[in-house]
Amino acid sequence: MNRENAYKLLSSIGQEHVLRYFDELSEDQQKILLSQIEETDFSVLSRLSETQTDLKGTFSPLEAMQYTEIEKRKEEFYDVGIKTLKEGKVAALLLAGGMGTRLGADGPKGVYDIGITKPLYIFECLINNLMKVVKETGRWIHLFVMTSEKNHDATVQFFKEKDYFGYNEEMVTFFKQDMAPACDFNGKLYMEEKYRISTSPNGNAGWYSSMLRAGLGKKLIEEGIEWINIFAVDNVLQRMCDPYFIGATVLSDVAVGSKVVRKASPDEKVGVMCLEDGKPSIVEYYELSEEMMNAKDSNGDPAYNYGVILNYLFRVSDLESVADNKMPMHIVKKKIPYIDENGDQVSPEEPNGYKFEQLVLDMIKQLSSCLPYEVIRDKEFAPIKNLTGVDSVDTARILLQKNGIEI
Ligand code: UTP
Repeated sequence: MNRENAYKLLSSIGQEHVLRYFDELSEDQQKILLSQIEETDFSVLSRLSETQTDLKGTFSPLEAMQYTEIEKRKEEFYDVGIKTLKEGKVAALLLAGGMGTRLGADGPKGVYDIGITKPLYIFECLINNLMKVVKETGRWIHLFVMTSEKNHDATVQFFKEKDYFGYNEEMVTFFKQDMAPACDFNGKLYMEEKYRISTSPNGNAGWYSSMLRAGLGKKLIEEGIEWINIFAVDNVLQRMCDPYFIGATVLSDVAVGSKVVRKASPDEKVGVMCLEDGKPSIVEYYELSEEMMNAKDSNGDPAYNYGVILNYLFRVSDLESVADNKMPMHIVKKKIPYIDENGDQVSPEEPNGYKFEQLVLDMIKQLSSCLPYEVIRDKEFAPIKNLTGVDSVDTARILLQKNGIEI
């Protein structure tokens, strides 16, 4: 793209200020800016007007497969799960493109050391858990790691430095998720440098389209991968590629399996699995009406009782039906550092604009069927969102110790 084309494109969307400093940039910087303009999807800006029209459908309960049933059928599930894994039909996909702002650490969240008596990195905990399955099946599982432009190099470098924590390097594929531009409250793009538009990762639903754009669709076909288990970076008790979960999902013949935990209280702040207009969905805690909170199932248990923990097993053949442009855009007010008209760096104290994100929970809504699969909270859910307090390094350490993991 040359300057003239860039100007045409930007002026057609009222963003020509992006070229304000163009003449004072070095040749290299000009190239960086022009290629960023070419690669950026500016169409997200037009979704600013959609916020008020994000209508919800009619919610109804979706029964989860409860732990008692799982226990009864565990051999059957295990056999199918192990077979599917041994056939190489399952890949793991680590969502590590987030910014981890709440934790407040520099660099990727996974490089955070949560050890007490020895170093124990978040990435290391996850690899250790995946390694258990590899040992059980005697076969390496392809691990995809989604990073973002902001943390890609640091993530790859860290894995190399740590020798992949013993994982088979050839079975790890990193790819970058797409970025979305950030703007002020009037929809004007911010610049983070004179030669760079402010951007942030486009949300964790970006994994599938970003994977395809990175050319990995071919790999899935070549390797015969039929299921992808995506999981969040911050749950250090995360059990991915769990044979029981895989077996239950395969046997249930659903488009996606979702690990869920029983809610700690009816008003707990977690997204809950349900149906929305008859399709699988997740109702956010703030959307849960009093009536829904008190509703009971046929056993007299709360009908909306199972919270999601960001561990989903997607059937690859169903993913084609998921379209980016049909998913709601979450437009989030954030503090966005920027360059002002004088070219000075500004780090705002308060939110000063919008970031655009699509969330994986909205992918579920586009699929025809889902199995909520209950896991025991204390054994599989230790998220690290904050340094201290709820869902923090402190709470995760306690849970790791409770599960006999040396920290
Ligand atoms: P969170 O919603 O906790 O976001 O991500 P975050 O960016 O890690 O943390 P905060 O909100 O800034 O403190 C849940 C999971 O989704 C991934 C994260 O890396 C984490 O595994 N994620 C999130 C992405 O991969 N890309 C994104 O754009 C956003």
